[in-house]
Amino acid sequence: MKYNDIRKVFLDYFESHGHKIVPSASLIPNDPTLLFTVAGMVPWKGILQGTEPAFAPRVADVQKCIRAGGKHNDLDEVGFDGRHHTFFEMLGNWSFGDYFKDGAIEMSWDLLTNVLKLDPARLRVTTHESDEESTEIWRRVAGKEAIRMGDKDNWWSAGDTGPCGPCTEIFYDFGDQFDNEDDRWVEVWNDVFMQYDRDANGNLTPLPKQNVDTGAGLERWAAILQGKVDNYDTDLFTNLINATQDVVGVKRTDENTPSFKVIADHLRAVGFAIADGVIPSNTDRGYVIRRILRRAMRHGQILGHRGALLSKLYPALVTEMGDAYPELAREQSRVVEIIQNEENAFADLLQNGMKLLDVEIPRVQNGVLPGEIAFKLFDTYGFPLDLTQMILRDKNMDVDVAGFERAMAEQKERSRANTKGTRTLWESQTDLPATDDSYKYAPDENLNSTVLAILHNGEFVQSAKSGDEVEIALDKTNFYGTQGGQVGDAGEITRDGATVMTVTEAARVDNIVIHKGVLTDDLSVGDAVKTKINGNTRMQTARAHTATHLLQAALRHVLNEDVEQRGSKVSPDSVRFDFSFGRAMTAEEKQAVEDLVNKWIASDMPVSHEEMSIDDAKKRGAMALFGEKYGDTVKVISAGDVSCELCGGTHVYHTGEILHARINKEKSISSGIRRITMSVGTLAE
Ligand code: SER
Repeated sequence: MKYNDIRKVFLDYFESHGHKIVPSASLIPNDPTLLFTVAGMVPWKGILQGTEPAFAPRVADVQKCIRAGGKHNDLDEVGFDGRHHTFFEMLGNWSFGDYFKDGAIEMSWDLLTNVLKLDPARLRVTTHESDEESTEIWRRVAGKEAIRMGDKDNWWSAGDTGPCGPCTEIFYDFGDQFDNEDDRWVEVWNDVFMQYDRDANGNLTPLPKQNVDTGAGLERWAAILQGKVDNYDTDLFTNLINATQDVVGVKRTDENTPSFKVIADHLRAVGFAIADGVIPSNTDRGYVIRRILRRAMRHGQILGHRGALLSKLYPALVTEMGDAYPELAREQSRVVEIIQNEENAFADLLQNGMKLLDVEIPRVQNGVLPGEIAFKLFDTYGFPLDLTQMILRDKNMDVDVAGFERAMAEQKERSRANTKGTRTLWESQTDLPATDDSYKYAPDENLNSTVLAILHNGEFVQSAKSGDEVEIALDKTNFYGTQGGQVGDAGEITRDGATVMTVTEAARVDNIVIHKGVLTDDLSVGDAVKTKINGNTRMQTARAHTATHLLQAALRHVLNEDVEQRGSKVSPDSVRFDFSFGRAMTAEEKQAVEDLVNKWIASDMPVSHEEMSIDDAKKRGAMALFGEKYGDTVKVISAGDVSCELCGGTHVYHTGEILHARINKEKSISSGIRRITMSVGTLAE
């Protein structure tokens, strides 16, 4: 039976047994605990937990899965045996509180032995050591005595928390010509009886309903049904490997077979993931995909190939799998472009780094590359440590990882000392109380404050003179200190109604607001002063900040929902915004984004500034910056219904106050990350 025909046999069987057939969900799970959809049950977690209603009592599907990175990780295994994949398809049938152990076991057995005609003598089953009931059902249904196993083998969960339960697994016997157990016995189906929800402390609570989650690897079924031992010898993989032979111009041999397998596997993972919206990057799932793509390129190189590889092979993937997954063809031009960009960037990186490595490798002693060299590669050429390790592994060498980390820590220390200037001096003032800057959102001109510290010429002094350049800390302030990409306020400090200091920028060191500027009169610690921000600059900055939120919303609207902020600088009337996106924007896209932002400005939407708990903010769907730490109470800034973000910055109250926005430039700053500069307000006008 052909690989591509198996899906239909599976789905037809379950449809005729009352199941609703649904298409695969995305590889990007709607679940913050997982990087990828690792199993067929991931999209149904809410239903299993009872927080979402079941749309049908019985469901069956074929789910795209990736197991790479995170708890379920098969990446390093791929290529060296015939059974591991990063991307695979999981055939699954579900009962949401409908049939339970009887039904699941009966149907699995019926489909395998009566429909697919597998020899019952070649099948062996396991059950959980606590599961008397399933063991009894196996005796009745198949006359089989199940092997009882512990939690490690027969208890299933997608992550550390969530739905879980005991399972029964069916294995196929490839025959006693294999002395290795793993080669001989292959798990062909896993029926999980989802009965419990596990919390973060490991406690099990019974789920509202007893459910069934089954999973069977399509690639393994194809191998068995085609009389192959190795999944990569099935028709689909053979076709992908043939396409690879054509692109690299080398024939498959026993020796180079692992590289062909790696490339075929990684083509599927990279192609499907990007089609579903993943963009190669330096974090999270983007990084996993970047690593997989680079691993494929390395294996291309082992085969003697240079330059683009997966982008050239993608059409073969569409030919093989496009009928079952229309998104592959629909997204083709975008996917190929992203892969090409990634391949080009990586080719440059490899070439430069390899020059250094070619010099260093012959010097390696005892098979271990010194950590400083690996760090130099990282620091100067952008070579990640795992890439260096991968290259060395092919030569049976290793990297001194501890040495690498030491070099990295030393470098961090050096740059801290160099670039932070007075920051370390302020950091040393551990007795200084946190500045009360709660007035910053509604500056109060009559706020009385006291001078707590004065830094002048690298020293903390009791008083300084008119004309001195100083940095001062107060007990309270109206000033917004630079934070979250927004530059701090400018303004002045007054004493008895007269200016004593012109503040050019308020900065922040931990929870202290530092006012930087020049004294216009003598000033001493303990002086009673008032803080007066420059309303004009504040207004310009607020415009720019709200405009940044509109820009992000417009980018997600025009480009796609996956665009994510990667950094920003909000200055008076100007914005620099970095975001994840795999290619240059077209002139039309830039225009569309600018037009949309201006339309939202013109419609003068109200901008609400609200404080709420982080949980409420999440419920509201507020966007947060990945990796940023937020307190329990957060500020949520919403512009009409187009944007809702967690944000501690200062904002306008109506979008009309922004006046106008203009995109000046859009460029790449690193692979997969773009930068837009935009003017707003009077500058844009
Ligand atoms: N969730 C189980 C697995 O992935 C059965 O579908 O094996």
